[in-house]
Amino acid sequence: MEHTKVIKPETLDDLIKILHKKFEGDSINVEEVQDIMESYESKPDEWMKYAKFDQYRYTRNLVDEGNGKFNLMILCWGEGHGSSIHDHTDSHCFMKLLQGQLKETLFEWPDSTSHGDMVQKSERILQESKVAYINDSIGLHRVENVSHTECAVSLHLYSPPFQTCQTFDQRTGHRNIVKMTFWSKFGERTPLQTTVSQENN
Ligand SMILES: [Fe+2]
Repeated sequence: MEHTKVIKPETLDDLIKILHKKFEGDSINVEEVQDIMESYESKPDEWMKYAKFDQYRYTRNLVDEGNGKFNLMILCWGEGHGSSIHDHTDSHCFMKLLQGQLKETLFEWPDSTSHGDMVQKSERILQESKVAYINDSIGLHRVENVSHTECAVSLHLYSPPFQTCQTFDQRTGHRNIVKMTFWSKFGERTPLQTTVSQENN
């Protein structure tokens, strides 16, 4: 593939504008999207209004609906907060660290004959500003802020957007379908009754 020069987004708004353009068509170039997101230099002033934390669990905060092609959101991870093991509903998932670090643990899909603990493939620490990518063919993952002193903030892009995913019990491989909710949308706290459910991804 020919190497195209990466457009460097100057601001978060600029990044959103560039992403709209890149997702206009029916296909995307994963590496290119990864490069674009990576070249955005995180400036807290630009994303602070979306970064709403909860004391007990990480939060999902919608930033942009990508003309229906993707959802861009900011996840806020307090000390020790983590997700369950989950899939990505046949979508692309890009995750960029805006602040702090996150640990990603990769698992294999359990098959119908497997019993007991799920098979762990790898783990890594995602560093600030780096962009990780996953989809269902790569596997399942769990994301955690393992720090006891620092919070973490990450920017996630999912394409196409999805509202439910599967979570997996690490000990048994049993799965559950969960509906995902937003803690806030466009900087505004979502009314309470719609946020009562397990969040994931
Ligand atoms: Fe995920």
